Amino acid sequence: MNIQVVHNYEQLCEMAAYIVASQIITDPNSVIGTASGSTVLGVYNGLVELYEAGHVDFSKVKLFNLDEFYGLDKHHEQSRYNLIKANLVDRINMPLENFNLPCGTAEEVFPECKRYEKLIDHTGGIDLQLLGIGVNGHIGFNEPSDYFAPYTYLVELSESTRSSNVSFFGHISEVPTKAYSVGIGTIMRAGNILLIAEGEDKAWAIKEMIQKRVTPQIPASILQFHDNVTVLIDEAAASML
Ligand code: GLP
Repeated sequence: MNIQVVHNYEQLCEMAAYIVASQIITDPNSVIGTASGSTVLGVYNGLVELYEAGHVDFSKVKLFNLDEFYGLDKHHEQSRYNLIKANLVDRINMPLENFNLPCGTAEEVFPECKRYEKLIDHTGGIDLQLLGIGVNGHIGFNEPSDYFAPYTYLVELSESTRSSNVSFFGHISEVPTKAYSVGIGTIMRAGNILLIAEGEDKAWAIKEMIQKRVTPQIPASILQFHDNVTVLIDEAAASML
């Protein structure tokens, strides 16, 4: 793992945006895996700035988001679709049809998981996967578990993840109990991975991910087995290393 510690969130977003942009500049047909949550939003702002300055062309890029809440229509205010669309897709020159997510309201779960996984496969796989991390060490919505999920699947969300989402939904009862997520296997098949984290509340998960044994109880720890991972964190998130 390539670990980079920066002073603050602003620097972190700027550097992460440069890394994603350089992937796209090197290969304009890049397939990028996007993440949701609040940490990545600053990176999307950074990418929009680079686009507006004329440094990056998104016209041939394809995006695959890591996850979507189960049962939420894509037009729901808190859908992952809406979040990434409003913060990134609507602000760059990428055609909307190049933006992919699992469908939260698909009629049947298993065919939807298969459809998404196949779609990723048909594009040739993810070139660069952007990841945040949950306070419990989750990536995507791969919660602590006794196995590493190989493919896209439907996940029962943990109480800690649902609580972290209360600020978006207003009340815990409004936070969905399940979500579609690409599997750990899907993430591990990406060519390059960029994981970002800020703040003291992520310090424990970062330590477990980097310095402890690989276990599905800390899903992010599997990244120790990937050859091309960059971990970009601020000083607070690095404070337990
Ligand atoms: C959600 C997302 C993850 C994200 C995590 C951290 O659970 N499914 O992809 O990494 O939140 O979010 P935040 O950046 O808001 O702490």
